[in-house]
Amino acid sequence: MSVTITPSTHAVPDAEREEKVAAPGFGKYYTDHMVVCEWTEADGWGTPELKAYAPISLDPAAMVFHYGQEIFEGMKAYRQPDGSIALFRPEANAGRFKRSAARIALPEMPEELFLETVDALVKQDAGWVPEKIGESLYIRPFMFATEVGLGVRPSNRALYMLIATPAGAYFNPANAVTVWISTEYVRAALGGTGEAKCGGNYAASLVAQRAAAKEGCDQVVWIDAVERKWIEEMGGMNLYFVKGSGAGATIFTPKLTGTLLPGITRDSILSVAADLGYKVEEGMISVDQWRDGVASGEITEIFACGTAAVVSPVGCAKSAMGTWVTGDGNPGVITMQIRNTLLGIQHGTIADTHHWMKKVL
Ligand code: PLP
Ligand code: COI
Repeated sequence: MSVTITPSTHAVPDAEREEKVAAPGFGKYYTDHMVVCEWTEADGWGTPELKAYAPISLDPAAMVFHYGQEIFEGMKAYRQPDGSIALFRPEANAGRFKRSAARIALPEMPEELFLETVDALVKQDAGWVPEKIGESLYIRPFMFATEVGLGVRPSNRALYMLIATPAGAYFNPANAVTVWISTEYVRAALGGTGEAKCGGNYAASLVAQRAAAKEGCDQVVWIDAVERKWIEEMGGMNLYFVKGSGAGATIFTPKLTGTLLPGITRDSILSVAADLGYKVEEGMISVDQWRDGVASGEITEIFACGTAAVVSPVGCAKSAMGTWVTGDGNPGVITMQIRNTLLGIQHGTIADTHHWMKKVL
């Protein structure tokens, strides 16, 4: 199925676009186009349409507004040294989008269709892809229930959409992120939606995010719902702990128990850290082990990872059980090595031995 293309008649003028791309922020500006594709139970997927970015009109009784049946993805296109553009592991996002859809009773979008829409939008809006290292075009596919009705049941209509925004740093990597370990709220329990990238997970996290901000923290760290002691992940990122230092260091991350979002950056770092010669482990780490580990010096560095933030050092942790700081509170050496290696692969300056990059243009 190919994408129908209707170019915008009011694209942002070149000079203004260049100004925006030069200082992109995150989610501040949107590109000239978007993709929409409708699904109905009766007819399946329609032909995707690429057209001018614009508001959409929906019936107030569209199910998404009432029962929150919505999923999304986050992925990036990077400028390469020869001026071309490549996506980082787009098939992984296509696969997770399908799994999220299955969990939220939305239609599973065929991977080829998903990838075709991403390709079309990046090609059309190539002028919006920044050039600097650490900057990229952040691509946001999403899908929601559009059946009109208030009965609580899986919608028989859905709309898939794709938008994109030029993106700078989500967090400044020079500053370690401060985190709030929430003991009051729970993100996900087994059998729930923790593994799916659905809007509802984020809606449910906002009060904890607000509590974190009140404590002077940038992000929430979630602990498990049952024993209330095992570290799971952050509001929008997975977590890594570095034990030891130098060539003998171990890079540790909480294992995927069914409640964590299986991050594509997390998965990539398992390989990158092993390639760099570190020992890599997935397992369980408790809040007490975190506090005691940084106190004894066994845990030397902590970092968060995700598409938006890539790799961000974590410094100070605060919680109802006290406050503690990793190392000297500054970004760690191994954290920055992993960040720079991953960014190097993404920007095409380090060999892509895992064949993660997919050239678009
Ligand atoms: N965990 C949560 C809750 C997230 O929202 C994200 C962001 O996408 C991640 C982890 C990291 O996932 P990825 O590396 O695929 O972006
Ligand atoms: C991402 O890293 O892509 C995310 O979705 C995190 C956040 C912006 C929700």
